[in-house]
Amino acid sequence: MRNFDETTITEAVLERVRNAPNLRQRIISEAIVRHLHDFVREVEPSQKEWAEAIAFLTRVGQKCTDTRQEFILLSDTLGVSMLVDAINHRLPGNATQTTVLGPFHVADAPEFALGEDISGGMASEPLLVEGRVSGIDAKPIIGAVVEFWHADAEGFYDVQSETGLASLAGRGIVRTDAKGEFWFRTVVPAAYPIPDDGPVGDMLKAQARHPYRPAHVHFMISAPNCETLVTHLFLADSEYLDSDVVFGVKDALICELETQSVGPTARGNRVAKDMAALRYDFVLADAGR
Ligand code: BEZ
Ligand code: FE
Repeated sequence: MRNFDETTITEAVLERVRNAPNLRQRIISEAIVRHLHDFVREVEPSQKEWAEAIAFLTRVGQKCTDTRQEFILLSDTLGVSMLVDAINHRLPGNATQTTVLGPFHVADAPEFALGEDISGGMASEPLLVEGRVSGIDAKPIIGAVVEFWHADAEGFYDVQSETGLASLAGRGIVRTDAKGEFWFRTVVPAAYPIPDDGPVGDMLKAQARHPYRPAHVHFMISAPNCETLVTHLFLADSEYLDSDVVFGVKDALICELETQSVGPTARGNRVAKDMAALRYDFVLADAGR
């Protein structure tokens, strides 16, 4: 077969990929050919524009390092990460909503006892976090692993500092107690711009978009026989709740900060000074739904 033109070339390529022995690979190969060809037919790029597109993707790849994943940032800012998240989390009604993992999760974060200060010296207003973890049957989950991480008052994560992984702060792991509850102390995080000094930042500028995310605390919560929950809690008084650059905000994850006075807390813990409080009850879906 030869002499392909702009209408016959798509079928020719589809014909060529149709023999992929792995069915899933075949379905994906066919879809990418169809959508990519339709995209080109719609946009009708000039040769110069196509070369610029390839140079852009090349820069995205070149920006990636062990601690910087520009392709994930591209997926996040084009709303693709949240679309993949939505497709993979068609959860039962009362299960806690999910959102993007983001690039600042660190494997093997330090484990803390309940009630400890996990801020690692980050400067900001003190914050109490109290939570409960249950299954969709409302039964408390004892020993759930609750991992959390957040930015400081300037909107930076520990791993963005010069010392990076060597000076972790504002992150950790705790385990729920016999009532399925956990608590820790930290500081109030600020809204922040995603890393925008690379090609994704250039794209945002060209699209006249700001790079900000509203203030939030990330959580990853796991327990046997439950689907691991990746989510954030957003602070209700934060800017950018309606224009999050990665489209991750959901109403059910927005929390008003409460005021906690020195002494006993609403959940029977005790703090030594006045502070803001973030309270939330997480519900894990069953694994293998
Ligand atoms: C974050 O919340 O840490 C994040 C998520 C997506 C892109 C950049 C940062
Ligand atoms: Fe974040």
